[in-house]
Amino acid sequence: MKKRAALITGVNGQDGSYLAELLLNEGYEVLGLKRRTSTINTSRLDHIFNNEKFNLAYADLNDTGSLWRIIKEFEPSEVYNLAAQSHVRVSFEVPEHTCDGICLGTLRLLEAIKTLNPEIRLYQASSSEMYGDNPDIPEDGYNENSKFMPASPYACAKVFAHNLVRNYRNSYCIHANGGILFNHESPRRGETFVTRKITIAVAKIKLGLQEKLFLGNLDAKRDWGFAGDYVKAMWMMLQKDEPDDYVISTGKSYSVRNFLEVIFDYSGLGNYENYVEIDPRLYRPHEVPFLKGDNSKAKEKLNWEPEVSFEALAKMMYDSDFEILSKGI
Ligand code: NAP
Ligand code: GDD
Repeated sequence: MKKRAALITGVNGQDGSYLAELLLNEGYEVLGLKRRTSTINTSRLDHIFNNEKFNLAYADLNDTGSLWRIIKEFEPSEVYNLAAQSHVRVSFEVPEHTCDGICLGTLRLLEAIKTLNPEIRLYQASSSEMYGDNPDIPEDGYNENSKFMPASPYACAKVFAHNLVRNYRNSYCIHANGGILFNHESPRRGETFVTRKITIAVAKIKLGLQEKLFLGNLDAKRDWGFAGDYVKAMWMMLQKDEPDDYVISTGKSYSVRNFLEVIFDYSGLGNYENYVEIDPRLYRPHEVPFLKGDNSKAKEKLNWEPEVSFEALAKMMYDSDFEILSKGI
């Protein structure tokens, strides 16, 4: 039988941890790549650390040699490229670093695959941010053919990487796939993304550890799903005979304000307006006002469906943060 070995870049991020778990359950040997940091940041992987089929190696998307060496030695059958400076607002502050990792990092991986083993299947973490502020939103939401009008350095870089993946697929017959994922969250979401920032803050307010929550634009709308559902779609794409691009979304869109309403109501604190203040510094130089994705193609071709609703996701995140913080007091 062919070796089932998966290489994951960005393994210690939110998606990397869920994906590693899924692939280990499917019987894969998994090698996760992490870059060196001054403090240990692998806590999302603690529960799979002792799995004998799981290993970590140091590499960096900005370091060609490390990527080539690892692909040569590990001989993966699948590569999942999840590594990125993934915070949209931060990308306005460190645009060169963001673009280097996403654009050239993806190019480095593609070149390594093309040269070392073009049979390797690749998943590229593309993003709904690529649609940016395109005003032509189909009624069912953006689809695989909608025009990209990126509105941040992060989104511009993701468009470049997405196009590169398509180009290598068409030029060299590489099984390279672009997953255009809409926002997905979980209890493992990074603490500076708006959903997790809110669930941590509301849990702290409830426990008497914090008084106010400062936010930016409450009217932005996003199509929010559960990360655990979304990593299944990544894997499903690589199991198809033909490579392709897919929108992965719930098909529903809610505002940041809606998210606040659900969490403040659920926590029993009541009206969010008593606790939330707007800090103009948290506005972005260029905002993406509305995102909704049409997941028809993924439903039809991958047989993929999101399983966790917006409300259930919000409550899952609040419950987790409340439990973690309660233990600390
Ligand atoms: P995340 O939690 O921010 O994780 C990103 C990972 O990339 C971290 O492990 C980070 O390592 C690593 N990384 C960053 N720069 C790197 C570099 N130069 N070399 C090696 N590793 C590097 O992101 P996520 O939410 O899991 O998202 C995974 C991917 O999907 C990202 O590419 C993101 O842009 C994309 N995406 C996410 C969403 C979403 O809603 N979550 C939607 C669409 C697309 P450190 O811990 O060392 O920083
Ligand atoms: N982070 C943050 N912090 N966002 C805020 C805040 C705040 O204090 N206040 C309001 N927002 C608004 C932002 O302006 C944005 O419109 C929305 O909340 C969501 O912001 P984020 O949670 O930071 O996510 P994002 O949509 O910018 O980007 C995420 O989703 C993309 C897919 O659409 C990231 O995960 C990207 O990596 C991913 O590609």
